[in-house]
Amino acid sequence: MKNILVGVTGGIAAYKSAGIVSLLKKKGYNVKVVMTENATKIIGPLTLETLSRNRIYVDMWDSNPHYEVEHISLADWADVVLIAPATYNIIGKVANGIADDMLTTILSAVSVRKPVFFALAMNVNMYENPILKENIDKLKSFGYRFIDAEEGLLACNYSAKGRMSEPENIVDEIERYSIFSKFENFDIVLKNKKILITSGRTKENIDPVRYLSNNSSGKMGYSLAQAAVDLGAEVTLISGPTNLKVPNGLEKFIFVESALEMYEKVDEYFKNTDIFIACAAVADYRPKEYKKEKIKKSDSDFVIELVRNPDILLEMSKKKEKQLLVGFAAETNEIRENALKKLEKKNLDIIVANNASVMGSDENVIEIIKKDRTSVEISQKSKVELAYDILSEVIFELEKRY
Ligand code: C5P
Repeated sequence: MKNILVGVTGGIAAYKSAGIVSLLKKKGYNVKVVMTENATKIIGPLTLETLSRNRIYVDMWDSNPHYEVEHISLADWADVVLIAPATYNIIGKVANGIADDMLTTILSAVSVRKPVFFALAMNVNMYENPILKENIDKLKSFGYRFIDAEEGLLACNYSAKGRMSEPENIVDEIERYSIFSKFENFDIVLKNKKILITSGRTKENIDPVRYLSNNSSGKMGYSLAQAAVDLGAEVTLISGPTNLKVPNGLEKFIFVESALEMYEKVDEYFKNTDIFIACAAVADYRPKEYKKEKIKKSDSDFVIELVRNPDILLEMSKKKEKQLLVGFAAETNEIRENALKKLEKKNLDIIVANNASVMGSDENVIEIIKKDRTSVEISQKSKVELAYDILSEVIFELEKRY
């Protein structure tokens, strides 16, 4: 996936297409931009030309120095096509086979095997119009992909659903696609599977202003949740505090703070789950007593008595029926040995062993060890990519059961 063709239509969010093109270029992609006539009234072609370092295509009838049939050569050149913003109008046109300008003509000539993404952006009433829904459903049935609009303040001053997703999110969706589309039947591999994931750290309050916690960012768990959604699963994510954006397409997102709260929620959902992935860095201890008022300092030392928190994964392993259990072992030493002990003690199907020093970073090196002691070592990769590797092993284990 090297060549990305960006189609810009005449929604006010066209200004954000500059951010998308710039981000794609920074990531090393070749970018060409096609604009509708209306889009040129919202954002200057020169901006996108400079950012993409390529000429902009608008009119079918521009003379071109290479004597190419440009709508065909551009459709062939693209590995991926992204329409951002995608207005009510462009979706209606493509869904009904209309090709009356450069962009729609290119779209009609893009091979059905290539991914085409529409990043929705429009007024909320247009967004809720059943005609749009029908057009989207039709396009989805042909394999077109949609990056849903988000809620927020719209150009028409409504605060509602309709604003285009942010450039980082759009680029992230496209990049993830290039990973998960390698799975055969990727959007149905985990169809009808209920996956419960814990992620993030927990926060154990001492008094109204102080707490015990750890360095876990939640990135691995959130990447797993997003990857599981991409592969068609119904995902419930139970998360402690993080700074991350909630993954798209979750069945349920439950925010918790303490280990006890996390335990209660996991316990509630566990019975009705097929796969439980415990990725959260749960505090093993909490203060015995929570002081309702801020503790005043004194000149002497201060001791906080801690009591054990439940080991959520261990407790669930005792209730295990059909569920496939995946745990994590973040260790500073004897990583494999410690991971194997946990695999045994918590009756896991899979344990992901890694070095605790990577907490918070975007990349990791892991070893995925299975119940039968076979393992797969995976060298330095982004947590987004690792999520698909871990789920591949989960899918492999599930297949063994049937
Ligand atoms: O024993 P240890 O805490 O290292 O085990 C780590 C694994 O157990 C992780 O999968 C983690 O999410 C889970 N865990 C848990 N509840 C705890 C502690 C750990 O679910 N209280």
